[in-house]
Amino acid sequence: MSPSSTKPPFRKGAFGKGAFMKGDRWPGLIEAYREHLPVSDATPVITLLEGNTPLIEAPRIAARAGVARVLLKVEGSNPTGSFKDRGMKLAVSKAAEADAKAVICASTGNTSASAAAYAARAGIICAVVIPAGQIALGKLAQALIHGARVVPVTDTFDVALDVVREIGEQPGVVVVNSVNPVRIEGQKTAAFEIVETLGDAPTVHCIPVGNAGNITAYWRGYREFADAGRAKRRPRMLGWQAAGAAPIVRGERVLHPETIATAIQIGNPASWQQALDARDESDGHIGAVTDGEILDAYRLLAAVEGVFVEPASAASVAGLLRAATEGLVASDDVVVCTLTGHGLKDPERAIDQVEVGEPIAAVASDVAAAIGL
Ligand code: F0G
Repeated sequence: MSPSSTKPPFRKGAFGKGAFMKGDRWPGLIEAYREHLPVSDATPVITLLEGNTPLIEAPRIAARAGVARVLLKVEGSNPTGSFKDRGMKLAVSKAAEADAKAVICASTGNTSASAAAYAARAGIICAVVIPAGQIALGKLAQALIHGARVVPVTDTFDVALDVVREIGEQPGVVVVNSVNPVRIEGQKTAAFEIVETLGDAPTVHCIPVGNAGNITAYWRGYREFADAGRAKRRPRMLGWQAAGAAPIVRGERVLHPETIATAIQIGNPASWQQALDARDESDGHIGAVTDGEILDAYRLLAAVEGVFVEPASAASVAGLLRAATEGLVASDDVVVCTLTGHGLKDPERAIDQVEVGEPIAAVASDVAAAIGL
């Protein structure tokens, strides 16, 4: 496809200041935080109105952790069901600005779903390289239905990312993994939203760590708002890896990472050093939680707070509960946990965790007895 035939269906400045449509108050991240983002009037805004996600009070989890408050930043409410939309909106907008022919990414699933959606909207080719058999079905379906060219490889995410970086050297091809600095810029806006909602930063922020782009992004967002006088404090960043995929905790690459939280099944995080910086500058911690702890938190979130997330997302809450037992949080702490992706991303895992009863005749008294009412 020649660049001239890929003219995207956007209107420059469609959501510019004062131009919001009635009933469409939230303009998406670029318009909301334009002065904090690397965009200009020449940047087309490719948007699905991502961001502005809920920050939900979680009193039962707060009680379990013995802290003053827990708030859940529900990133599954983004258009493609994960936090990736924040960075992808910016990455694809910048790719369109540069007249890119294609965007490409390696992915454990969510990046590919998001890239595919935004590329479809921009009229740009989306190429995706995935570790074969290790992607939750919901995410794979998303990438394919949006028309991405998906290539499964018989290797890990880490090796897939090496391949993508090599292909990304071709002219007109833009890598949209979080090694693209624009991705981090977009994702930092989640920290802005939290500060705006709470009136300040929390004292502790818990977040899952895979390729380590998101912890990097939140820390940058918190720092920038503190530097700009928008927040009085900066949180301690507590990052959580899955125990079978915990290179940062172990201090060495993991060649064959293993976890049920496939989204964070990563053995050589691209933003490793930045994650260490976030930890050290914030007086924080990067720890590991087992698959058992992740699944406990996964079920707990759904059962007592009504929030259904994918397993990787539950690592932040599993981490908070671990932090509580290790004395890493105190009774006056205000904790935000990022829940990175929606539960429906990985339907197989959910179905695996529950039991569906045998069908019975549709007779009210029998059904009532089966319900126990
Ligand atoms: N949670 C979910 C649901 C994710 O999809 C990811 C990363 C993370 C947490 C970790 O974030 O990599 O910034 O530390 N998913 C990437 C992907 C790797 O390809 O979708 P991170």
